[in-house]
Amino acid sequence: MKFKTIEWKGDRVRLLDQRKLPQQVRYLDCGDASSVAKAIRSMAIRGAPAIGVAAAMGIALAARKIQSHQPGVFYKSIEKVCQQMRQTRPTAVNLFWSVDRMKKVLDHVRSLGVEEIKKRLEEEARKIYEEDINVNRKIGENGKILIHNGDGVLTHCNAGALATAGYGTALGVIRAAWGEGKRFHVFVDETRPMLQGARLTAWELVQEKIPVTMVTDNMAGWLMRKGEIACVLVGADRIARNGDTANKIGTYSLAVLSKWHGIPFYVAAPTSTLDLNLRSGLGIPIEERAPEEVTHLGIKQITPKGVHASNPAFDVTPNTLIEGIITENGIIRKPFKKNLSRFQPSKRAG
Ligand code: MRU
Repeated sequence: MKFKTIEWKGDRVRLLDQRKLPQQVRYLDCGDASSVAKAIRSMAIRGAPAIGVAAAMGIALAARKIQSHQPGVFYKSIEKVCQQMRQTRPTAVNLFWSVDRMKKVLDHVRSLGVEEIKKRLEEEARKIYEEDINVNRKIGENGKILIHNGDGVLTHCNAGALATAGYGTALGVIRAAWGEGKRFHVFVDETRPMLQGARLTAWELVQEKIPVTMVTDNMAGWLMRKGEIACVLVGADRIARNGDTANKIGTYSLAVLSKWHGIPFYVAAPTSTLDLNLRSGLGIPIEERAPEEVTHLGIKQITPKGVHASNPAFDVTPNTLIEGIITENGIIRKPFKKNLSRFQPSKRAG
């Protein structure tokens, strides 16, 4: 990978500021947990696994900075930071999963001294980071059989290295298939309103020299009608027990179009994206973002003043529209309820 989405830099967390891509490659150094939380909220870093990693690093960073050696004061401060991280974005379950993992470490090492606990928290954050890259590579290996020479592969939003600790989920599958020598073409949806497809996925693919054509979100149906799309591959922010999947707004429309045209629709996600506590997608909280993201293009308003705009950042694709879920443990197929229950994430907190 020619860039790092997020990394430790001395006593800071450095992240690639995704709001500025592709025009500028700028890094943002976060010196405390509040700036990490702000970076997640403002989408300087985004993508389900990446915000989970960022939250864990933010907690470890906060721990490092606590001066007090009194366990009571230390725990209270960390609990506050965990809560701050949980409140950044509501939909991607990876964020909650990783905060829970950090909390679990804290609970297990309560009897140790504060300095040792700080060390353990940092180790756990590093583990979450490294595991994510390994898991993505496995997803890539498991999913690459779904892509064939000559295929047109459509993806939505950014489920690449930028959305993870590295390598990517849906884009990881594309990377693995390409790396194996398969030759195909990627179509990427623009992904209004934040343009993750146009700005981020296209940027990653251009760097990898994987042929990519950008289309606006409303062009997908016509591409399918013309026979240019062999399969659709997307990431996920939260997958309920029955396979219903929350992902970037517009994913559901793509899945409906895929069904109509008989095109297989696949979700690629680590098991840390599973929320087995939720019976169906109905329970997934959908983030509503500022209407200005829709009414404006950059700083320029494109609507008449006073027009209301709705801005749900995610939608939920019903399991019936999904052909399979590509995870680090293999491709999960229907019946999802039965088959997903076997795939608990390696370290979900209780
Ligand atoms: O709002 P974003 O950019 O954080 O939304 C990201 C997505 O919807 C991705 O598709 C999803 O997180 C999967 S990333 C591997």
